[in-house]
Amino acid sequence: FRTPVIAIDGPAAAGKTTVSKAISDKLGIGYVESGRTYRLVAYHAIREHVPLTDEHALTALCHRMLSSSPIALYQTDAATARALRSPSVTRAVSVVAKLPGIRTAITDLTRKIVEHIGPAIVEGRDIGTAVFPNATTKIFLSATAEVRAKRRNRQEPDRGYAEILADINRRDELDRDRQHSPMTPAPDATQIDTTGLTVDEVISKVEAQCRLAL
Ligand code: C5P
Repeated sequence: FRTPVIAIDGPAAAGKTTVSKAISDKLGIGYVESGRTYRLVAYHAIREHVPLTDEHALTALCHRMLSSSPIALYQTDAATARALRSPSVTRAVSVVAKLPGIRTAITDLTRKIVEHIGPAIVEGRDIGTAVFPNATTKIFLSATAEVRAKRRNRQEPDRGYAEILADINRRDELDRDRQHSPMTPAPDATQIDTTGLTVDEVISKVEAQCRLAL
């Protein structure tokens, strides 16, 4: 795979989206949020009442979704984009993302999206390990669960801190302990613990790392 890719992985609410958008602007490259594609599968499963335990039906649903063009599928309207961040989708997504059939299909979709948009920063959980193992630069962002929950709580003040922390811990566990492409830093990733850092400090560190590889 030849398109230059910057892989940004890490657990929920580690700052991947904020950092990735800033780097995409600074370097003038595309930005792909791979979590959105997993969220889309969960969103359609909920709407179509497909039980989250029915691997066969979920995989079939995912394949039906993938029959439309990768870009059309990825670029949702604003209302769907909001629904993708809703608590019900957030609760369901890691359960759906555990399934091997879904992961294989979404990995393929993510590669197709990047093929279409060209050089890009791609954020997720397994971008540096499974989706783009030959990425130009690999970063793994982390922070304590408490700090991540506090940051997310500032973005979503309507949800309580305790609920957000519980959600983050549950998703971390599901994402880390699944058998197929679990969330783990690639051996050649630069790991950045953002616990005591400001957003600007994280952005400069990531930017410096990306420029090294350019
Ligand atoms: O990044 P975001 O929090 O939107 O991702 C939602 C969920 O999608 C994650 O908790 C994880 O279960 C799944 N995901 C994944 N692999 C990726 C990106 C997201 O399993 N590359």
